[in-house]
Amino acid sequence: MTRIVPPSQTVSELYGADVIAARIEALAGTIVADLGTDLVGVAVLKGSFMYAADLLRALHRHGAHVEVDFMMLSSYGAGTESSGQVRVLRDITSPVEGRTVLLIDDILESGRTLAYAKDLLSARGAERVAVTVLLEKPGKRATQIDPEYVGFTCPDLFVVGYGMDCAHCFRELPFIGVMDP
Ligand code: IMP
Ligand code: MG
Repeated sequence: MTRIVPPSQTVSELYGADVIAARIEALAGTIVADLGTDLVGVAVLKGSFMYAADLLRALHRHGAHVEVDFMMLSSYGAGTESSGQVRVLRDITSPVEGRTVLLIDDILESGRTLAYAKDLLSARGAERVAVTVLLEKPGKRATQIDPEYVGFTCPDLFVVGYGMDCAHCFRELPFIGVMDP
């Protein structure tokens, strides 16, 4: 389905809002069954904000109590190519020592961003750091990281919507899609 997004760019839908919601509900059940109900949830800004908001509410429905925090990392400039460098723009304030941490991100590509965040939280003494991403692009991994909870394995395309942007646009879309040429 093609949706017209102002001003003139059209975006073809890959994953609709209903499909995303159903997948998140199932993932939340699996996460609570595996990790238990006492979690620190760390959302990696900005891209994960919509996934985190929906996942955290689904985790609540499955009985979890999550201490929520945010980390802002940057590995991309304004374009669509990874710069290969990770910078912490905003750190969490919650102590993670001895805790089970759920690291939440939108999409895993090279894995550099999440590998960096996972190492950082482990080094601070987290008992366990599990990773969830809504999307995973196969064949692009540049580091050793295996997310435990993946929503969808997506085609190797630059996707937007549901928190993900292209040059600061399209984060607000309730679905995930690809910009039309
Ligand atoms: P990685 O460090 O190469 O795994 O990059 C992951 C980050 O790059 C994600 O958290 C996104 O913010 C961004 N990213 C990677 N692929 C896409 C995409 O297709 N659309 C939008 N953002 C992307
Ligand atoms: Mg991101």
